[in-house]
Amino acid sequence: MKNRRTFLKTACKPIVLAALGIPLIEACSTEEDLSETINSTNDSSQQSNTNTELKIDLDDDRFKNLKEISGWVNHTSENILLVRISDEEIRVFDNSCPHQGARDQWSFDGSNFTCSRHGNSYSASCSGSLKCYDASLEGNILTVDLT
Ligand code: FES
Repeated sequence: MKNRRTFLKTACKPIVLAALGIPLIEACSTEEDLSETINSTNDSSQQSNTNTELKIDLDDDRFKNLKEISGWVNHTSENILLVRISDEEIRVFDNSCPHQGARDQWSFDGSNFTCSRHGNSYSASCSGSLKCYDASLEGNILTVDLT
């Protein structure tokens, strides 16, 4: 009995009426609830748009290898390989091997990445087999478009 009383006090009116067999066409949410839903949907789409853009601070110790030309980093948390090409350019590749997708067995000889899983090598060129991302360098901030 107490559960029924609690239900009647806490349930929205249309549900109570429907439970009593009285049909109504009405949503339980208020306009205020609806606008919150729309706003939060917009927020998450903005967030997913910004999630495709990655900013890397090269002063971070994890990227110290990129200070020298031919220095490279396998940034596993973002699944990308980064290699310093020149003072003005850092190329960014997906770190998934085009052969069978291994991500963590890379070496770099200054011009090619080699995946030790099966020994295949791939040029550090954006016209090669590795997926290349657009990247721009401003000061010590590298901006990568992960689309
Ligand atoms: S998975 Fe990289 S060479 Fe086969």
